[in-house]
Amino acid sequence: MGYTLTILGCGVMGQAVLSAIYNAPKADDESRAMYPSRIITCNNNAQSAKQVTELVRGFGTSPNGIEVESTSGDNAKAVAEARVVVLGTKPYLVEEVLQDVRTQVADKLLISLAAGWTLDQLVDYTARVARVMTNTPAKYGYGAAAVSHSPDVTADERALVSRLVGHLGLCVELPEKNMDAATALIGSGPAFALLMLESMMEAGVKLGIPLDVSRRCAAKVLEGTARMAEETGSHPAALKHQVCTPGGTTIAGLCVMEDSGVRSGIVKGIEEAANVAARLGRK
Ligand SMILES: NC(=O)c1ccc[n+]([C@@H]2O[C@H](COP(=O)([O-])OP(=O)(O)OC[C@H]3O[C@@H](n4cnc5c(N)ncnc54)[C@H](OP(=O)(O)O)[C@@H]3O)[C@@H](O)[C@H]2O)c1
Repeated sequence: MGYTLTILGCGVMGQAVLSAIYNAPKADDESRAMYPSRIITCNNNAQSAKQVTELVRGFGTSPNGIEVESTSGDNAKAVAEARVVVLGTKPYLVEEVLQDVRTQVADKLLISLAAGWTLDQLVDYTARVARVMTNTPAKYGYGAAAVSHSPDVTADERALVSRLVGHLGLCVELPEKNMDAATALIGSGPAFALLMLESMMEAGVKLGIPLDVSRRCAAKVLEGTARMAEETGSHPAALKHQVCTPGGTTIAGLCVMEDSGVRSGIVKGIEEAANVAARLGRK
């Protein structure tokens, strides 16, 4: 018999976690125990709980036989029944929600998705906390996630968190001092990548390519380039220079972009997002 995992706050990110765990491929006998047999989702209102039920219905049967109960308005009961709790509410609601389940959460492994909430703040509610920073592509299994653990999290629990969070896409462990940077790079990252996508798409349109074709081509260029960098493990600069024919089009375009401050704009933008993330943590 497996354990119960409760998702406190099942919105965009909570549903990404739900979908990733629920739809994970069938586990072998060795890792089966890492998967819950039951997931309880908690929302604030009944209407959004119903949407979660519809979402799960659309998934079909879970390969690992996971059952889901969507609830609203009774966090304490759902947390009391859980061994692992995923915290997926907006950061400004975290204190209120955790205060309400203070007694029930005290001996549980807490996996927090909340931006800005530090391990120091969260261990006030339970000693075993995994702080996770992930992003919206996780909804499609293409997410990235950085995880920091409080000292009381056991090796087995770390493995469990890596396994479950790994289904969101990439999962890396980082020291907590890097979490503001991870918030900027991973959490906000999709918006920065989308700005690049949008700009490339608009350039195509400006040069006469139809909008939809331009969007699909720009998206494939970004996807293909990311895969190439990942698969070769080469430095981006080395790959970039393979595309630059002397006196050719690519080097001409790159020089204009560098002259317009694209590189420093991106670096400074991510730095600014990290500064804001650090201020969130000092609330
Ligand atoms: N979205 C992102 O790109 C992103 C990226 C990285 C990290 N995060 C982090 O992920 C967390 C969740 O963000 P999100 O974008 O998924 O937010 P969201 O879509 O607004 O989801 C939050 C959920 O919390 C539920 N909720 C509100 N009050 C509750 C209560 N008292 N008890 C139980 N559930 C309650 C809401 O339910 P109702 O619908 O019923 O109100 C909603 O489903 C945040 O802490 C954020 O920092 C988000």
